[in-house]
Order: sequence, then structure tokens, then C-alpha cells
Amino acid sequence: MIAGIVAFSSNGMIGLNGLLPWEIPEEFAYFETKVANAALVVGRQTYELMFPAETDCFVVTTQPDLVLRPGYQALATVEQALLAAVQTGKDVYVIGGASIYAAAWPYCERFYVTRIEGEFEGDTKFPESVPLDQWTVVSDEKKTFMERQSSTPVTCRFMEYRQQLPRFLPGMDCKNRVAQSE
Ligand SMILES: NC(=O)c1ccc[n+]([C@@H]2O[C@H](COP(=O)([O-])OP(=O)(O)OC[C@H]3O[C@@H](n4cnc5c(N)ncnc54)[C@H](OP(=O)(O)O)[C@@H]3O)[C@@H](O)[C@H]2O)c1
Repeated sequence: MIAGIVAFSSNGMIGLNGLLPWEIPEEFAYFETKVANAALVVGRQTYELMFPAETDCFVVTTQPDLVLRPGYQALATVEQALLAAVQTGKDVYVIGGASIYAAAWPYCERFYVTRIEGEFEGDTKFPESVPLDQWTVVSDEKKTFMERQSSTPVTCRFMEYRQQLPRFLPGMDCKNRVAQSE
């Protein structure tokens, strides 16, 4: 299973100065629980902020000589990173940032989206090219938490989207398993 996971605000923001635009530990805990024990596909800039790898992490970068921290592996394309992640046999989560969501969404069968119901200042937006409005919503739950920087309550809408026909990942069989011939 390949899934995307993202949190974005009402004005589409996902990042500010390399960090999240908000501080909502409960939402981050949801993310951590979701991706625990999965294989992760991540862009190099988001990787820079991550803690030591506790699971398989595949970092997409154009820098072939980039030295990564232990537990992380560099791949040159999103497709190569997805394939390496699938080959671990674990569920795969695409955890951003924007450029990685934009390239990986066709291969995702699910997208876990937290809509943060408020406008936040940011410098990185969730890409409008991801056509979530054409996907099916299979769950939708609202919870309200305190946003710590502003000390104001904010509603988080936890949604799961499904895409009926994800794109075939080169090198995989039709059930997203590694082709037997490899
Ligand atoms: N709200 C959320 O759910 C969420 C999730 C993740 C990230 N974020 C936020 O998003 C921001 C970072 O996102 P971002 O979009 O700026 O950066 P990013 O996607 O994390 O990383 C971009 C880097 O990935 C590599 N890359 C991207 N596309 C590639 C491709 N097609 N082929 C090869 N390499 C590729 C390049 O690395 P090189 O420069 O090394 O070549 C590029 O500079 C941060 O503020 C972070 O906190 C938010």
C-alpha cells in the first residue's frame, strides 16, 4: 500500500521556514502513529528536519554524493524511492514536501489529509496539481486542539481519500508487489 500523508491549512500552507506553520502536538502525534513501522519517502529538505531514522527512510535528492545520516538512503527519483520503499515489504507513506507530493500522488492509493481549519502564514503550499477533489473520501473526523503558538483553538479535520486507479509503478506487478522476475 502506498499512501500520501499531509496536513495543510485553509490557505493551502504546509510549511514555513522549513518547519510546520503551526504547533499542534496532537496532530503531529497522529502523523507519527500513522507512519510508525512504515517505509517513508521524503524530499531532501524535509529530511533535513527529521530525527534519526527509526524506520526505512528513502530520501529523494538530485545530489548523488549527498551523505545522509544513518538509516536514510538517497534516491535520484521519486519512482526509485517508491520502488525501494515498496521492496521493504512495509506499507509506504509519502511524507512530503510539496515537490514530492506533486510527483508521487499518481502512485498513491490513499491520501491521509489533515485539514487545519484556519489560515496560517507559510512559504510552502500543498500542490494544487494533486486532484484530491476527484478522489473518494472514506473517512472524515473533526477534532479541536489548542494551537500552541497562538494559544487559540483550531479544528483539525482528519480525512482519508482513496484513488481508484493509482498509476502502475515501474518495476511492480499489478498488486504493487515486486515483480517475481526481479
Ligand atoms: N504539513 C505537512 O504535512 C508537511 C509535510 C512535509 C513537509 N512539510 C514542510 O514542507 C517544507 C519542505 O517542502 P519542500 O517542498 O520545500 O521540500 P521537499 O519536497 O521536502 O524537498 C525538496 C528537495 O527534494 C529533492 N527533490 C524534489 N523533487 C525531486 C525530484 N523529482 N527528483 C529528485 N529530487 C527531488 C530536491 O533535493 P536536492 O536539493 O537535494 O536535489 C529538492 O530540493 C518544510 O517547511 C516542511 O516542514 C510539511
